[in-house]
Amino acid sequence: MKSFENKVAVVTGAASGMGRYLSVLLAKMGCNIAICDVNAEELKNTAIMLANYNVATSTHLVDVADRSQIELLHEEVIARHQKVDLVFNNAGITVMSDFENMPSEDWDRVMDINLSGVINMTRTFMPSLRSRPEAAIINTSSIFGMVAVPGQSVYHATKFAVRGFTESLAREMKGSNLQVHCVHPGHVGTNIAASAKDIDGGADREAPSFLKDISSEERGRMFKENGMHPSRAAQIILRGVTKKRTRIFVGLDAKLIEITQRLFPERYSLTWPFIFLPMMLLNKVLKKPLPDLPPEPE
Ligand SMILES: NC(=O)c1ccc[n+]([C@@H]2O[C@H](COP(=O)([O-])OP(=O)(O)OC[C@H]3O[C@@H](n4cnc5c(N)ncnc54)[C@H](O)[C@@H]3O)[C@@H](O)[C@H]2O)c1
Repeated sequence: MKSFENKVAVVTGAASGMGRYLSVLLAKMGCNIAICDVNAEELKNTAIMLANYNVATSTHLVDVADRSQIELLHEEVIARHQKVDLVFNNAGITVMSDFENMPSEDWDRVMDINLSGVINMTRTFMPSLRSRPEAAIINTSSIFGMVAVPGQSVYHATKFAVRGFTESLAREMKGSNLQVHCVHPGHVGTNIAASAKDIDGGADREAPSFLKDISSEERGRMFKENGMHPSRAAQIILRGVTKKRTRIFVGLDAKLIEITQRLFPERYSLTWPFIFLPMMLLNKVLKKPLPDLPPEPE
């Protein structure tokens, strides 16, 4: 897909972080957008940012863990926009906890959003996407879909699975009208850490030194402040779609961590301090938003 102009994109998790900026950058490039999230207030703020562009937009309060809400979303999108060309399965959460201490309800909730949400969105939208001249599904995994740390077993279970699902689907769709992409972000400065439930202090274990021994609120704030700005991440993702990359790595940290996994399959994490420190310096520049974007409403 060379251009997003006059296309229709559905973005899940559009009330914050990468989903918000995927929506804004797509609108800036002339793409019509259906934004979805469970957070009504922040979704409205994304809609305010989109109002700066001359495209058709629609706002949908949708919990991607609920299959019937996804089916209703599909009906609403077709009724409002008549077609759909791109689906960004971006919504995701995490829970910090050792597997042993994690209540099964928390496990199930992460699985339902991060994995079943992606699969059910894909299943529901695929017939409409397959009817278009060119279309794309963009599923967000993580660099944690390539490597694993303790205290994040459910997140890894979902993100490794999203990668496996997406790469298999990409091979099934090879040569068809439907491009299939898997996104592997490194550290992007969003609300994901601040929103995460920390059940047993699991967040401390493999955290880089600047995120250790602090309250979970402070950790969430520092995670957001020290990562690549989500607008830059969104720009990398959209470039990956135009270049038809099946695997889209976001950030130098993601690319380097993936290499360490191949070089040191069992001891990769020992090398990471050498990646985190230079990344903190690089992110001093990359944490600034792209120029000429509307400000986030207060
Ligand atoms: N930020 C990072 O460093 C990073 C790294 C790797 C992967 N990711 C992945 O990127 C994606 C986007 O995350 P982000 O970092 O922008 O986080 P974020 O917390 O800023 O945004 C996630 C959005 O998803 C929404 N959401 C949560 N549950 C939902 C549900 N059931 N239905 C619909 N929407 C729901 C939230 O309300 C929020 O608006 C996620 O899949 C995440 O796992 C993030």
